[in-house]
Amino acid sequence: MSTEQFKNLFSPLQVGPMQVPNRICETTNTINSSMIPGEVDENFIAHHGAKARGGTGWIGSETWLLNLPFPPETPDEVGLAVGFAAHFAAYQNPPYVEGMKKFYQEVHDAGSIAIAQLTHLSAVWAPSSVPVISAQDYTPHVMGEEEIEFCINSYADAAEVAKSIGADGIQIHCAHETLCYSFLSPVTNRRSDRWGGGPEERIRFVAESLKRVRERIGDSLALGIRISGKEFRQGGADHLQMREMTHHLGETGLIDFVDIDVGHCWGAPSYVPSSYYDEAEFREVGKAARTDLDSKIAVLFSGRVNDPGIAEGLLKDGYCDLVGMVRAGIADAEFANKAREGRLMEIRRCISCTRCIDEASEPMTFPYAPTCSINPEIGHELQWKEQFKPAETPKRVVVVGGGIAGCEAARVAAMRGHQVTLIEQGNRLGGQLLIGKLARGRESFEDQIYFEENEMTRTGVEVKLETSADVDSIKALSPEAVVIATGSLPRVPFDIPGIDLPHVVQGWDVMQGKASTGDRVAIISQEDYYETPCVAEFLTDRGKQVEIFHKSVHLGFEIARYSIAMVLKRMEECGVKVHPNLVLNEVQADGFELLSSFGEKTYREEGFDSVVLVYGSVPQHDLYDQLKADGSIPQLYVAGSAWLPRFMAEATQHGASIGLAI
Ligand SMILES: Cc1cc2nc3c(=O)[nH]c(=O)nc-3n(C[C@H](O)[C@H](O)[C@H](O)COP(=O)(O)O)c2cc1C
Repeated sequence: MSTEQFKNLFSPLQVGPMQVPNRICETTNTINSSMIPGEVDENFIAHHGAKARGGTGWIGSETWLLNLPFPPETPDEVGLAVGFAAHFAAYQNPPYVEGMKKFYQEVHDAGSIAIAQLTHLSAVWAPSSVPVISAQDYTPHVMGEEEIEFCINSYADAAEVAKSIGADGIQIHCAHETLCYSFLSPVTNRRSDRWGGGPEERIRFVAESLKRVRERIGDSLALGIRISGKEFRQGGADHLQMREMTHHLGETGLIDFVDIDVGHCWGAPSYVPSSYYDEAEFREVGKAARTDLDSKIAVLFSGRVNDPGIAEGLLKDGYCDLVGMVRAGIADAEFANKAREGRLMEIRRCISCTRCIDEASEPMTFPYAPTCSINPEIGHELQWKEQFKPAETPKRVVVVGGGIAGCEAARVAAMRGHQVTLIEQGNRLGGQLLIGKLARGRESFEDQIYFEENEMTRTGVEVKLETSADVDSIKALSPEAVVIATGSLPRVPFDIPGIDLPHVVQGWDVMQGKASTGDRVAIISQEDYYETPCVAEFLTDRGKQVEIFHKSVHLGFEIARYSIAMVLKRMEECGVKVHPNLVLNEVQADGFELLSSFGEKTYREEGFDSVVLVYGSVPQHDLYDQLKADGSIPQLYVAGSAWLPRFMAEATQHGASIGLAI
């Protein structure tokens, strides 16, 4: 049945000399899966290899950053300071090349094809002295002829190495903040020599690079580009100009595929669109490219396709020939096989929360590892291979709390053969996800609840809803292992005078309809991720006028550059005013006093009907403490927020690790 349902998705495609076994593509995602910087180690191979074994036909793995034309006397420290490859690039480093060769073999053994994405990503060299939107906004060094020649040749040099170690295709990265992009864009390319001008002149750098690569690799490898369908940047190329340039590049006869997306890294949208955007919202750019290009050139579209059904629809309706599904594979490396085998209920769908890209671009954990809010395996593939084994002695396990940590502990323990009972006091599993899904643009969070609900049934976990647990009721079940995953509750800053006044309420309570507010609302924010913006938007959607008084330099300080613009743009659209660098000092009936986060200056605010607190949460581990004192449970664990409230990924990983350990 699923073969028929996904007829297009699982049909092979000839792309130049390369036969892609199906239409599912892991477009390149530099997720830092190697533990050895600048090399391809066993973690890298395990991470991206899992997607190939999981049925993804096209594997783009991580980008190849190329060598840059530093003046010879520039010390390496300068190269490192600009953040990218210095005098030498990874492809010139034998251990990297050796590791990549092993990886390509792994991909081929799984029946998939491997692409090498070649990238010049630098804020330092550019066609003109206009800063590229990037991690660093230097006024760039304007490239002379020799430097242009150097960069063009570096694509060919790297392509030759990629060919020698078994890559099936080469992609020159011309989207995002790359050097090719800055030659294509009218904002960053203001040259009046042969490298600048109208669309036909601005493509010259890309066309010349493609030509050199083709000369070096011949016809035995597929060659293509990744290009933006629309910049979403003031003064940037609109979709018509991008179409024109893509068309001209197609006309060169040098390319076999075009991989198209939209946005830039600081943009709204960025090219890693969050759940604030619809699935495949920018699909029209794919259709336009298909219309404009010779039918022999395959078009790959990417951008929030998280479901095989949506991917099939895109193919069927002519939006593209290949579908980028990066985060779908981060959330579930096996999703393609599951779809082909009709195991749709078992797919863990990406909820587009953006933790993966937040972590990859501005890591919050050390050592750096790929991170996903809902998939505990990624970044730990080798550990899972070692530890995910049937339990030697199946045990009776009781899990208390049906949030993500409890569900993951129960799911993994049950899959390993334990007999698991999960007790939840509410009427549904999900914990804090039940609150998160109430936020506009976060409806996708419910997908993870459905996943856990299905998994409980599939793995045979006995779920007892609307049931409270205490020491006696747990002991009555005679468990050999107990996991306390009782979550956390909103923090009340008790040391602040006036905090118990009736017009002071909690953000969680507002979202859940347990507290109401007047028309003019002050949110006092002590958290730096998505919670405050979600509460603010929830209130403005209900007609409230909202101002946020926030502890740090800007709202969502821990949301990385690929995602923050979407959050701030929505605040702008909702008319929410944000006052940074302030903490609450005192609340009175007719106002409140704030203190500067950095100094001693105080400010008084008046005229608000309600004060809403978003202050993080406090772990609830009383039951764990009581069971520990009792001492009769052989294996006792505390999981997730009940131990320490952090992000969703940490709760997922904590719960799953306990499931592995029991
Ligand atoms: C962690 C991460 C790293 C990425 N790194 C790159 C990269 O190095 N080169 C690139 O062209 N795109 C990169 N991307 C963008 C993806 O290729 C893809 O276009 C994007 O994730 C949207 O597709 P999706 O909705 O299927 O995830 C990255 C995405 C993620 C999530």
